[in-house]
This record gives sequence, C-alpha cells and structure tokens, in this order.
Amino acid sequence: MKFEDIPRLPLTSLPTSFYAMANLSKELGDIDIYIKRDDVMELAHGGNKTRKLEYVFADAVAKGADCVITMGGIQSNHVRQTVSGAAKLGLESHVILNNPVPTMKKQLLGSGNYLMDVIMGAHIYLVDSDDDEQTIAKMNEVRNDLIKAGKNPYMVPLGASDGIGSLGYMLAARELMIQWENNNISPSHIFLGTGSCGTHAGLLMGLRYFGNKTTKVVGISVSQPEDIKKQTLRDVISQIKAVIEVEDNLISEQDLIIKDQYYGQAYAYPTAEANAAIKLVARKEGILLDPVYTGKAMAGMIDMIKNNKLDNPQDIVFLHSGGAPALHPYAELFLENDHE
Ligand SMILES: Cc1ncc(COP(=O)(O)O)c(C=O)c1O
Repeated sequence: MKFEDIPRLPLTSLPTSFYAMANLSKELGDIDIYIKRDDVMELAHGGNKTRKLEYVFADAVAKGADCVITMGGIQSNHVRQTVSGAAKLGLESHVILNNPVPTMKKQLLGSGNYLMDVIMGAHIYLVDSDDDEQTIAKMNEVRNDLIKAGKNPYMVPLGASDGIGSLGYMLAARELMIQWENNNISPSHIFLGTGSCGTHAGLLMGLRYFGNKTTKVVGISVSQPEDIKKQTLRDVISQIKAVIEVEDNLISEQDLIIKDQYYGQAYAYPTAEANAAIKLVARKEGILLDPVYTGKAMAGMIDMIKNNKLDNPQDIVFLHSGGAPALHPYAELFLENDHE
C-alpha cells in the first residue's frame, strides 16, 4: 500500500508547534536551535506515542478490537498515552508495568504517569522486575485470559514501534519539512531520544520518502549500545517496508546514526548531564524535559554542539518527544537549594 492510503485515526490536533529557542541558541554559541513540540498533544499530556497510536488504533478498530494490551515501565509515557487513547475510543486497556529501576519502586509508583493510568481506569498488572521475558509472559497470560473471557484484544507493541505505529513519524517528517520551508531553514541535524526506535525509524524514513536527502537524524540512545540500537532501527525500518511501498535503497547504512555515550548506567537511571540539561532548558526556555528520554537527548545535543562534534551544523532541530509527567519520581535530584 501507499503511505497515503494507510488508515489513520486522528487523536490530536496537528501540526504541533515548531519554533526557535533563541535563549538556548545564544547560550550555546553561534548556532540557531529549533524545537518541535511533540510534548504538547491531546492524549493526556501527549508525547511521541500519540502520533504512532493514531495508526495503531486505526488498525485495532479495523480489526474489531474491544480492548488493548500493552507494556512498559511503571513510569511509561507510552502506556499513559495508550490508556488515554483507549479511553477516548471506548476500549478497555490492560497494561503490564515492569520496574526498570528496582531501587526506585516507591518513587516510580508516585510518578505522574502511573497516577494518570489509574485515574483513566487502566487494568494494571505489575511485574516486580525489569525482566523482559517475565513481562512478555505476563502479557501473554493476560491476553489468553481476555480471549477466554470472550474479548478481542489488540496487542500494542512496546513503544508502539512496529511498522504501523512508526508511520506516525513519517507524517511528522512531512509536517516538519513544511515547517522548515515556512521558516526558510535547512536543518543539518535533528536530534531525538531513541528507545524502541519507532520514532527514529519513522522520522528518517519520512524525510527520505518525502524528498529530504540531507538532514541527519541523530538518535541519542536512552538504553543500549550503538550496535544493538542500530539493529533494532534496521528491524523497524524493515517492518515499515512490509507495510508501505518504498524504494529499496531509500535509506543507506550511513543514514543510521546512534550515539550511545549519554544514557549512563542503564535505561531510566538519571545522569548528571541530563539533569543539567533539564535545568538549563527549563531556565532558558521555560520548557520541561524529562530524565529518562529528552534530558539525555538534550545532553547529547549540547555536548555535540559545544564540543564541535557535528559536520557543518546549521539550524539544529530538537524533537521534544514528551516525558515531563515522569519528572516527579526524580524530584530529589532537583530539590537541593530549592528556596531562598
Ligand atoms: C518521552 C519519550 N521520548 C522518546 C521515546 C523513545 O521513542 P521510541 O521508543 O520510539 O524510540 C519515548 C518512548 O517511550 C518517550 O516516552
């Protein structure tokens, strides 16, 4: 099928805003930095999953689903947006939540996202570890139980990062290209936090598919080394190619750019650099990032700009993919010297 013919179920108003971060640009020197505000959307505070879910829920509804199942960390933004979309469409949501940082269970259960899942009526199943196999086993058990109860569940993959969900970021790429033209700019690089790779794969595929051959998509890994992330990225790109018709060599190996020096100990563990980046952007631009994804992505972008690690940089773009509702478990990191 052609990209344009794939059904999409609108769940938020688009386009999201795009503008220059004048104060941050000044702070980092002689370069213009722009931001794409995908953190501001209509599924319970929004974030990058909303765009993916527009395609995923269209598929779920076409398949006659009456409930959705998905998984993520206790503090998951993906789960919160899935639960919100399901509520809007009158579907039940069943969510399997694991714990990426065992020492932070109490704090993570106090996160904005978990609270919102509860308030929106998700059926929650907690897995007390970060073990993927255990989480997947629980997910299969929940699925079997729902089928036995006569339901028709739809499985939303981790991060909605399959060939269908990633189409949401192809659409975002087209949206960005129009905004760049309207602003009369030609960005050399766009930065984002890369986890399950659907956002990265869709954005890269979308730029090349709609005719942008030059902008480099730089994924700051939030969890794994470069070789593992690149393989996931290749896999998701293949999954997109299984859904829509695209030229075979639209994306080259050089197009796959992952930086893995900014995620620290592991997924969802804070880093000093990300905390500093969160504070800087909050104080210079009034924009809130998060410690799991966008803070680390911003720390990577700042390091690469400041230390001249980019080839011919111009009009740098940062994709704000959401995540601020997951700030609260990390409050202690920010609450030193908090008042006069
Ligand atoms: C705020 C935020 N940014 C970035 C990502 C990473 O996106 P992806 O899983 O598509 O790589 C996520 C995924 O959960 C997220 O919640």
